[in-house]
Amino acid sequence: MCGIVGYIGERNAQEVLIKGLRRLEYRGYDSAGIATLDAGKKPKGNISLQVKKCKGKLSTLRSMLEKRPLRGKIGISHVRWATHGIPNTSNAHPHWDCSGKIALVHNGIIENYEQLKEELIRQGHLFRSQTDTEVIVHLIGRYYKGRLEEAVRKALKQVRGAYAIAVISKDEPDTLIGARSGSPLIAGTAQGEGFLASDIPALLDYTNEVFLIDDGQMVVLTRNSVKIIDVQSGEKVRKEKVKIQWDVAQAEKEGYPHFMLKEIHEQPKAIRDTLMGRISRRRDAVILQELAPLRKTLSCVNKIVIISCGTAWHAGLVGKYTIERLCRIPVEVDTSSEFRYRDPIIDKRTLVVAISQSGETADTLAGMREAKDKGAKIISICNVLGSSVTRESQAVLYTHAGPEIAVASTKAYTCQLIVLYLFALYLAQARKTLSGARLKQLIRELERLPHSAEKILKDKKVVLECARRYYKSFGFLYLGRALNFPTALEGALKIKEISYIHAEGYAGGEMKHGPIALINPHLPVVCVAPSSHVHDKMLSNIQEIKARKGIVISVASAGDELVPHHSNHVVYIPKVEEIFSPALTVIPLQLLAYYIAVKRDCDVDQPKNLAKSVTVE
Ligand code: M6R
Repeated sequence: MCGIVGYIGERNAQEVLIKGLRRLEYRGYDSAGIATLDAGKKPKGNISLQVKKCKGKLSTLRSMLEKRPLRGKIGISHVRWATHGIPNTSNAHPHWDCSGKIALVHNGIIENYEQLKEELIRQGHLFRSQTDTEVIVHLIGRYYKGRLEEAVRKALKQVRGAYAIAVISKDEPDTLIGARSGSPLIAGTAQGEGFLASDIPALLDYTNEVFLIDDGQMVVLTRNSVKIIDVQSGEKVRKEKVKIQWDVAQAEKEGYPHFMLKEIHEQPKAIRDTLMGRISRRRDAVILQELAPLRKTLSCVNKIVIISCGTAWHAGLVGKYTIERLCRIPVEVDTSSEFRYRDPIIDKRTLVVAISQSGETADTLAGMREAKDKGAKIISICNVLGSSVTRESQAVLYTHAGPEIAVASTKAYTCQLIVLYLFALYLAQARKTLSGARLKQLIRELERLPHSAEKILKDKKVVLECARRYYKSFGFLYLGRALNFPTALEGALKIKEISYIHAEGYAGGEMKHGPIALINPHLPVVCVAPSSHVHDKMLSNIQEIKARKGIVISVASAGDELVPHHSNHVVYIPKVEEIFSPALTVIPLQLLAYYIAVKRDCDVDQPKNLAKSVTVE
């Protein structure tokens, strides 16, 4: 939630800061703001702090800046997803202290802000917003005695909660300060320049060399130096630079009208990239070097618990079916927000698998900490290099989906499935629960998935027709069984998120226990019915819907003659091993949600009330 950018160098700061925010807009879009330090044409000493902010999207701020640009070569900027205080101009960041010299942007939540605010008001501080953030900048102002670094450090020692901040001061125009605790922050450097950002894509135009700032650390950037210090002790911390492999093109739309459509189409490549290097040359074994340090643990694990949120939780559910079927290890799946508060039964023989695209989801991080405290070993499946989730895991299996910008997750989901498949096969191979021949057969099938995904993406006729006919529907029902029950949940989530149509995802077998009452001639029911051991059961569901005059949109395997007979519309997927089918059946559902959202004129990439990474509870 919220995106921050900071810049110091020789370029026009406004340009860098706004370009950075465009890549972070997915993190929040209810208000935006920027502050720069401008020396103007006057001699040094006459520097002014200039701030522009507004309610609404970044585009509103950009129009303001087009009319009256800000000058200066150092600055900070912000896109907001409101937590404390409604989205309006005074609550938009940056905020500044009483002297009007220090400005700050913040991502996170300050838990003790009310108490701090009361104290500061008693001391005469004048607050201009309802945000929790403003207390930080007032505290910095209170402690400022000529050294910004020291004042920021003292202020941070007072605050409790989550933050990533960027700070500048008119009295120190050659210093940009950042700090983090619980919210993401990276610092980048290039010749004569320094950058701060909440996420990698914001910096990619200028540098691919970054420092991953850890919780409890502060970074002090000048044009030619980077200093990282521990907030508590004030001592310097040694840190290596990390080279980012993503490029700028991956963070752009490349001709697609929306990031979501681009990302749906990137799935074949993303799956290929995620598989790359993880299958032996002879295609008879899965290689997951990343798990080598946990080999001993994996051999004696007696339970796996998967924790994740939203779409990643649906991936976890597919993981449960797959791991249990291939490895015969019991698997529990929990949403992280439930897991963290249910006092889960976990011990040293439990393996916890945390799944997160962003690696910054607050509930998932809290769940991991809970599991660690109880002695569990933790593996994460994550898309963002060096994110908080990866840093708190004993081993990381990266998805190589590339940057996912659209709020609705698509390619990250299919790549999470791929990693879960690889993981299940790896475990099955280690625990010898599969014959060599079967393992080989499954590996070959897995490698065929990118090609099958390409085939699905080539023919959108039926999906477009369904979007055209049903985009005004009041609701949708999604049904699936076994491995494709999570697909039904994911299809329903996609349409809810971006089209604002109410949708329910149900296990087919549960239909008679309630949702069948909803069936009527106006209700589209999406039935996920590829070839599987429950195909007959799904067929019965479909017939029951038809008998009640419901509209059936089915996803079936090529060559199926029964499902089409009872459906109004059928989207075919290529034939595939049952366990891998969720990686394909979800694609038509992503497309359906996308085209319905477009027809309804919805803001596909930035749906209302949502943010890409939920870094607060
Ligand atoms: O970054 P994460 O994978 O941890 O995010 C989890 C959910 O917030 C995320 O999947 C959310 O449900 C998406 N908007 C779904 O499209």
